[in-house]
Amino acid sequence: MNNDIKRVAFTEVQIRKRVAELGAEISRDYKGKNPLLICILRGAVVFASDLLRAITIPAEIDFMALSSYGASTVSSGIVKIKKDIDVDLKDRHLIIVEDIIDSGLTLDYLSKYLENHKPASVKICTFLDKQESRKVDLKVDYIGFPVENEFVVGYGLDFAEKYRNLPYIGILKEEIYT
Ligand code: IMP
Ligand code: MG
Repeated sequence: MNNDIKRVAFTEVQIRKRVAELGAEISRDYKGKNPLLICILRGAVVFASDLLRAITIPAEIDFMALSSYGASTVSSGIVKIKKDIDVDLKDRHLIIVEDIIDSGLTLDYLSKYLENHKPASVKICTFLDKQESRKVDLKVDYIGFPVENEFVVGYGLDFAEKYRNLPYIGILKEEIYT
């Protein structure tokens, strides 16, 4: 295990099993609908690539990159789009794929932004959910695992761009980020 990690929250094996379940659920729910997964860069890239392969119906993927404006430590809810979608969203079934939802402000903004493109539907799939930290009422349709309010890394999630390549979800030691 990496020395900066206090504890493993979800092992590779647990992750693989849960992602397979989510893929099966989405395949059932979207049969005949050719959903478009919208992967939020960069954190969701590992989850989205596993999820895409766990989906057994025709499905597509595109990418968006977002950044939060305003005060550095407090999420302002004002989001800047650094990379937008390249395909026409009209009448498409969209599934936003995110690594973790914390305050919910980023996805609250994004789902409203996507609704403006007149898609057939917009749903949210997050690998991890910090439910207790929610600041807005956000409907999350697919959740990998709920997590406590601790800083987690690995499986795409970073701290200062590090640890994204860990194959498991780990809880970072406090002394690393304080
Ligand atoms: P929010 O839901 O708008 O507050 O923002 C969620 C974003 O904050 C996620 O996409 C992550 O980039 C980041 N984030 C929140 N909690 C964690 C964590 O525990 N580890 C790594 N990134 C996190
Ligand atoms: Mg993110």
